Amino acid sequence: MAAAGIPKRYAHCTLGTFKEKSPLLKLVRNDIQKFVDLWPHTEKGKGLLLVGECGVGKTHLAAAVLIELITADKPGKMLFNNFQDLIQEIQASFDSDHTPGKAEILQPLLDADLLVIDELGSQKPTTWVQDILYYVINTRYNDEKTTIFTTNYFDTTDASKRESLADRIGTRLRSRLFEMAWRYEITGVGDYRRNTL
Ligand SMILES: Nc1ncnc2c1ncn2[C@@H]1O[C@H](COP(=O)(O)OP(=O)(O)OP(=O)(O)O)[C@@H](O)[C@H]1O
Ligand SMILES: [Mg+2]
Repeated sequence: MAAAGIPKRYAHCTLGTFKEKSPLLKLVRNDIQKFVDLWPHTEKGKGLLLVGECGVGKTHLAAAVLIELITADKPGKMLFNNFQDLIQEIQASFDSDHTPGKAEILQPLLDADLLVIDELGSQKPTTWVQDILYYVINTRYNDEKTTIFTTNYFDTTDASKRESLADRIGTRLRSRLFEMAWRYEITGVGDYRRNTL
């Protein structure tokens, strides 16, 4: 599990520890259980796109998929990746001769049979960031490799004028995600972190 890069906070996350606080959460949990049961026979590498506000359980569910598969000893290279951390790591690699270069950092993301990209769109969409994201996602799209995404960005802009997912990652990538992932919008539940304070 450590090799898969699952953060310590989420190491206990399973589908069993995910509470079904609403009918929608129950449905999402059940579908994700089916995804786990089917693995590695997912349809054309189709993964998951979990969309929702802060603290609704997106990262919990994404980590839970990896943990369930690893615990069940199912086949495949599993990798958890936080997009923001990835960008920081690549930026750091430019400042030093001793750290691995961009290609070396990105290779595991291309190789993983099941990759979690947590917090998609969280990084300011500079051209440089978009290029990296496009390279990773488009390569996985072409290879029909399964990816689970979590994001705070919806497909429509809301009253607060928050950008849409397409604004954050570009329309070409958003288009690819329709084919790459089943989309689940988790709404109607509050921030779980508030209840645990
Ligand atoms: N339904 C749930 N049952 C049990 N624990 C939950 C549930 N939803 C969230 N949690 C817990 O609440 C915390 C926040 O959840 P999580 O990190 O998955 O939120 P998130 O949707 O990824 O939020 P963000 O958009 O801020 O990253 C975690 O510790 C997670 O384990
Ligand atoms: Mg999260």
